[in-house]
Amino acid sequence: MNTSPVPFRRIILVCLNERPAGEASCGPRGGKEIADLLKKGVNDLGLKGQVRVTKTHCLGLCQLGPNVVVYPEGTLLSGVTPADVPAILEKYAKAEVK
Ligand code: FES
Repeated sequence: MNTSPVPFRRIILVCLNERPAGEASCGPRGGKEIADLLKKGVNDLGLKGQVRVTKTHCLGLCQLGPNVVVYPEGTLLSGVTPADVPAILEKYAKAEVK
């Protein structure tokens, strides 16, 4: 096993998981649209290679979704909508890590 520093200053995980009908999950509640908007925003800001938007499966907090987790802060953003994307980009993609 090798270890090395993560080559991104931030990683934004967006849950796209889909559960069977009747069970809460992030995918059917807008996860893909949120991920796509975040990716586009990061690219438009010229931050590709610095900020990584990663589509992921269940983060274990399905009832709260759609869920986004930001590292290195380890911050959970829940109940995210596409309208929240500009604020997420402003607060987490553009800002330097403290
Ligand atoms: S389906 Fe998104 S946290 Fe479980």
